[in-house]
Amino acid sequence: MQHFTAHLHEEAGTIALGAALARALQPGLTIYLHGDLGAGKTALARAMLHALGHSGHVKSPTYTLAEPYSIAIDGQTINVIHFDLYRMTSAEEFLEAGFRDYFNHQTICIIEWPEKADAVLPPPDINISLAVAGEGRDVELQALSDQGVECLTRLKFAPNL
Ligand SMILES: Nc1ncnc2c1ncn2[C@@H]1O[C@H](COP(=O)(O)OP(=O)(O)OP(=O)(O)O)[C@@H](O)[C@H]1O
Ligand SMILES: [Mg+2]
Repeated sequence: MQHFTAHLHEEAGTIALGAALARALQPGLTIYLHGDLGAGKTALARAMLHALGHSGHVKSPTYTLAEPYSIAIDGQTINVIHFDLYRMTSAEEFLEAGFRDYFNHQTICIIEWPEKADAVLPPPDINISLAVAGEGRDVELQALSDQGVECLTRLKFAPNL
């Protein structure tokens, strides 16, 4: 499956999607999260991290731009980096922080506001777009690489929450 849409009636739907995605993720994936302020990007990233086994807080890395997590899955440690690039001011800032090094085969990168860094950001395997729709959110997932297609093919999600 390369393309998937759903309506998430309430935050529980976002959490369920995050959990379903967590089960389908593989190291090396780059996921862009699109959507306006308050669309639910951080809520989805947080749900993925919690479902992957991170038990602490997940706050938006508003000023640090990136927050690394180290997560043990089946005895293997993987890195997940949660970016929020809303306040990124220049490409140099991204490069000087060494963020390019995070994009490797051992790491999952989840990126809010990728539009702010499109000159320097590696391309996504999966694009996720969130939009306010009534009391809930519409979500669209699109795979853009073989690895992204494999991930969305593994995704098992019943959206009718
Ligand atoms: N499916 C949903 N239905 C209703 N509310 C939701 C849903 N998913 C998330 N929310 C709510 O949306 C609000 C904003 O979410 P969040 O902070 O994740 O937005 P964001 O896209 O990360 O915004 P920003 O661009 O400011 O970082 C939260 O209060 C969250 O509870
Ligand atoms: Mg956010």
